[in-house]
Amino acid sequence: MKNGEKNAAHLKAKKAKDFWGTTRRLVKYMSTRSWALAATLLMVIASTIMATLAPYILGQATTEIYRGVQEGAANPIDFDLIRNILLIVAVVYIVEAVFRYFQQFITARIAQKTVYDMRKDLKEKMATLPIRYYDTHSNGDIMSRAVNDMDQIANTLQQSLTQFILSVVQFVTVLVIMFAIDIRLSLVTIVTVPISFLLIAYVAPKSQKQFGLQQKELGILNDQVEETYSGHTIVKTYNREEEEIEKFVKQSAKLNDASWKAQFLTGIMMPLVSFSRDLGYFGVAIVGGIGVANGTVSLGNVQAFIQYVNQFSQPVRQIANLANTIQVTIASCERVFEVLDEEPMKETHSDLEPKETSPYKVEFDHVQFGYEDDDLLMTDFNLTVKEGEMIAVVGPTGAGKSTLINLLERFYDVKGGSIRYEGVDTRDLDRNELRSKFSMVLQDTWLFNGTIWDNLKYGSHDEEPSEETILEAAKAAHVDEFVRRLPDGYDTILNEEGTNISQGQRQLITIARAFLADPEILILDEATSSVDTRTEILIQRAMGKLLESRTSFVVAHRLSTIRDADKIIVMNHGDVIETGNHDDLMRQDGFYADLYNAQFQTAEPQLKAV
Ligand SMILES: Nc1ncnc2c1ncn2[C@@H]1O[C@H](COP(=O)(O)OP(=O)(O)OP(=O)(O)O)[C@@H](O)[C@H]1O
Ligand SMILES: [Mg+2]
Repeated sequence: MKNGEKNAAHLKAKKAKDFWGTTRRLVKYMSTRSWALAATLLMVIASTIMATLAPYILGQATTEIYRGVQEGAANPIDFDLIRNILLIVAVVYIVEAVFRYFQQFITARIAQKTVYDMRKDLKEKMATLPIRYYDTHSNGDIMSRAVNDMDQIANTLQQSLTQFILSVVQFVTVLVIMFAIDIRLSLVTIVTVPISFLLIAYVAPKSQKQFGLQQKELGILNDQVEETYSGHTIVKTYNREEEEIEKFVKQSAKLNDASWKAQFLTGIMMPLVSFSRDLGYFGVAIVGGIGVANGTVSLGNVQAFIQYVNQFSQPVRQIANLANTIQVTIASCERVFEVLDEEPMKETHSDLEPKETSPYKVEFDHVQFGYEDDDLLMTDFNLTVKEGEMIAVVGPTGAGKSTLINLLERFYDVKGGSIRYEGVDTRDLDRNELRSKFSMVLQDTWLFNGTIWDNLKYGSHDEEPSEETILEAAKAAHVDEFVRRLPDGYDTILNEEGTNISQGQRQLITIARAFLADPEILILDEATSSVDTRTEILIQRAMGKLLESRTSFVVAHRLSTIRDADKIIVMNHGDVIETGNHDDLMRQDGFYADLYNAQFQTAEPQLKAV
C-alpha cells in the first residue's frame, strides 16, 4: 500500500468498532499478571495520597507561622512544631518518590510482557494462518497490523499506561481530600475545570482533524515524490517534468496550509488551558482571602488549595490528551485481535487408505477445487506422475496452472478427490514434511537483503553447506558467470528493489537456490520468463542433468523450453484438455499444436526480415 493510502486508512480505522469489548480484552491480556497490577494500583494510590497530603501538611506550617506573626510575642511561633511538620513533609515526599519509582518499574514490566505475549501470539498465529489469508489481504495491510499496530500498542502501554492510571487515581484522591479539607474552596477549584475542559473539547477535535489532514497531505506528497523518483525515467521520456513539478508545488502548498493550521490550533491550546487554571488560582485566592479575613479558613488551607488547583486540573488535562491516543490504540488492538481470531489452518485428514505400492510419485485423482466454495475451477482433474518425470504445464493465462502448484504444496486443500504423494493422500502428511520435499521457483523472485552468497545458502537444508555445493548450484544455474563479473562477486549485497542486478539474474539466483535445496520435486512456475532465450536454453540443459532423477513440474509460456518434457499437460479453464509428449501433441493437431505454431510463426517472419 502506498503511504497516502496507508495514512488515510489509518485515519479511517481510528475508531474501534467495539471500544469497550476490545478494552476488556486488552485488560484480560494484562491480567495474567494480576498481582503486579494490584501492586501497582496500590502503590499509585499510596503515592498519590502522599502527594496530595503534602500541601495540606505544609499548609499547617504556614498557618502556624501566620498565627505566630499575628499573635506576636504573647504566643510566639512554635518552631519545634514547624520543624516536625517539615520533617513529616520530607518523609512523605521521599516515600512518595520511592512508591512512584517502583510503580513505574512494575508498569513498564507489565507493559513489556503484555506486548511480548501479544507479539508472540501474533507471530504464532501468522504461521498457522492459511495461505488464503495472505492471498486475500494485501501485504501492506498485514504489515501494518504486525508492525504499526503492534508498535502503537507497545508505545501506548509503555508510555501512557502509568500516566493513565496515575491520572485517574490522582483525580479521585485529590477530589476526596479537597472535600475533606474545605468544601467551599473545593467547589471554587472544581468550577474552573469544566471551563478548561470545554475549551479543550472545542479546540482539540479541530486540531486533531487538522493533524489528520496534515498526515494525509504528507502521505500524498510522499507518494508523489516516491512515484516520480522511482519512475523518473518514464517521466523524462514523456517530457513530463514541468507537470510533475507543478503537481509537487500544488501539493506542497496544501500540506503547508494544513500544517500551519494544525500548529496554530495546538499552539493556542496550552495558553487556553493555563488561562483556565489561572482562573482557578484567582478564585481560590479571592474566596480564600475573604475566608482568612473572616477567620473561617486557615491560611495554610488556602495555600494548599493553590496547589490543588494544579493537582486537580492536571489529571483532567492529561486524560483529555490521552483520549485520542487511547482511541487509536484500542483500534490497533482490535486490528491485532482480528488477526488472532482468524481461523487457523485446519488439520484435515482424508480417511483414505494409503496405497502401499503406488507406481506414482504424485497422483491427482478426480480432484475438484475452487477458490470460492460455489465456483469450482477444477471439476475433475486427473494426472499421474512417475518418479523422475518432467511434467510441463501449459495453457492460457488463468487456466489454473499456478493453482495446480498451490494444491500440490497444500497451500490450499482440495474440495474433492485426492492428491497422493507416493500413494499417501497429502492431507495425511505433515505440512512441513510435505513442503520439505518441494522446491519452488516463481516468476516474482523473492530475495532478501544480503549478499548473493547468503541468498544462495538460504535454500540449503544444511546449516553450513559446503562451498563446493553452493558453487556447483551457482554454476548449474549460470549464476556463477555473471557474479564473477561483479566487483564484489558473491559478496555483492542485493538491495531491496534489486536494482543492482537484472530481473533475469535474480531469477537465476532463485533457481540456484532451489537446486541447492536438492528437493524430491522441483517446481518452476514461469521461473525463466525474464531471462533471454539463450540463457533459458542453457539453464534447461543444466537442469537436464539435475532433473535426470528428479520429478519436476515446469510451467512455461515459451513452449520451446519444454519440448523435451516427458509429459506435457495442456490446461484450460481448470481442466486438462490434452496430454502427451511434444510429438504426440503436435500429431493431435489440437490446442497445443495451435499454441506452438502461433509462437513459431510469429518468430519466423521476424527472423527473415532481419
Ligand atoms: N488466491 C486466489 N484466490 C481466488 N482466486 C484465485 C486465486 N488465485 C488464482 N485465482 C483464480 O483462479 C484462476 C486460475 O488462476 P491461476 O493463477 O492458477 O492461473 P495460471 O494458469 O497460473 O495463469 P498465469 O499464466 O497467468 O500465471 C484465475 O481465474 C484466477 O483469477
Ligand atoms: Mg500462474
